Amino acid sequence: MADLSSPRNASENELWRGSRSCPMVPLAKVEEANERLRSVLASVSDCYFTLDRTYRITDLNTAAADWAGTRTDRLVGTCLWDLCDPNAGCSLVIRESMEGRSRMRREVISGMRPGHWLDLLVCPSPDGLSVFFTDVTERRAATAALDELAGRLLSLQDEERQRIAEELHDSTAQHLVAVGLHLMRLKQFVVPEGQKVLDEAAHSAEEVAREVRAFTYLLHPPGLEHGGLAGTVRDFAAGFSRRTGLETSVRMAEMADGLPFDIQRSLLRVIQEALTNAYRHAAASQVTINLRFGAETLKLRVLDNGCGLTRGVRKSAGEGALLGVGVLGMRARMVQFGGALRLLSSARGTMVVATLPLDFKDTDPVGDGAQW
Ligand SMILES: Nc1ncnc2c1ncn2[C@@H]1O[C@H](COP(=O)(O)OP(=O)(O)OP(=O)(O)O)[C@@H](O)[C@H]1O
Ligand SMILES: [Mg+2]
Repeated sequence: MADLSSPRNASENELWRGSRSCPMVPLAKVEEANERLRSVLASVSDCYFTLDRTYRITDLNTAAADWAGTRTDRLVGTCLWDLCDPNAGCSLVIRESMEGRSRMRREVISGMRPGHWLDLLVCPSPDGLSVFFTDVTERRAATAALDELAGRLLSLQDEERQRIAEELHDSTAQHLVAVGLHLMRLKQFVVPEGQKVLDEAAHSAEEVAREVRAFTYLLHPPGLEHGGLAGTVRDFAAGFSRRTGLETSVRMAEMADGLPFDIQRSLLRVIQEALTNAYRHAAASQVTINLRFGAETLKLRVLDNGCGLTRGVRKSAGEGALLGVGVLGMRARMVQFGGALRLLSSARGTMVVATLPLDFKDTDPVGDGAQW
């Protein structure tokens, strides 16, 4: 083993590199490590380049040169601002990181290829900066198309439900009333032994009519046009309670009425689906709806005291399997505004928790006075 503490002459020192904090390392080893690092960076599909403190490109990998549409040797030594709009999003992040000596990661617009979006990671180094980026333009376009499709599907679902509700109300429910009346008329012609069967048939017809009425009500999307969210939810919950027999309590902050219209409508649809699920799947006797405002977010909770999600459903959900469109739709409505939706469940019931940030920059407020 070499004695690293022994004094060396000048030529010997050139073969070594070190600092007070790092032990002395032979120069050949440093070069070898650098070469290995370069070949790793050359092989990755992410684009990579380094800048000195005057923003000159000191190194870049093939992926970065390919993305720029040129060769690596043509770019090394060039000032970044000769290639890239200094006011573009990516340039501002690079300058902020260089000046603040801080690591930054952002999705930004490219200053070299306008219209392209980059997932940019900038890390300060002793010589300047290391910059990693991936072109995410296609991914962003695909996500935007998916969001639009999800939005369209959700409004188609609303229209379809409205149509089914009208059909059930105007036709199926009327036929059921007629069945009940015919059964009553039949009573006088039936022998005593058949009366019990007839009563049971009449009772079943009544039950079906009650269920159809409940489903019609749950399917029919109540409008917000004649009042704000708080009043609409209270009315809707009262109608739900009357038709289904489920005790429903509502605690809604009145501030909800000042939310942008699109958000009020989406929250109403989440409540509607959560109530439908409680009625269809939970075998619950009570449902509580609670909407509260925090400093930065609003939180909607719909809790039932039913049987909770079955183990099979929890397992499928954990594996990302598609169960129905209800939960997916609720989630999509919240994600659309930067929010989230969770389903918590135990043997004592299920709770749907929807959260939304309160900085709605992209939505139009309702009326002139709304302050959101
Ligand atoms: N409150 C609840 N209590 C018990 N199980 C529930 C509850 N909510 C949802 N589930 C379970 O989660 C599954 C998925 O719900 P989801 O609303 O996505 O679909 P669905 O109600 O079956 O069909 P649809 O597409 O008509 O809404 C349900 O099939 C049900 O098994
Ligand atoms: Mg459902």
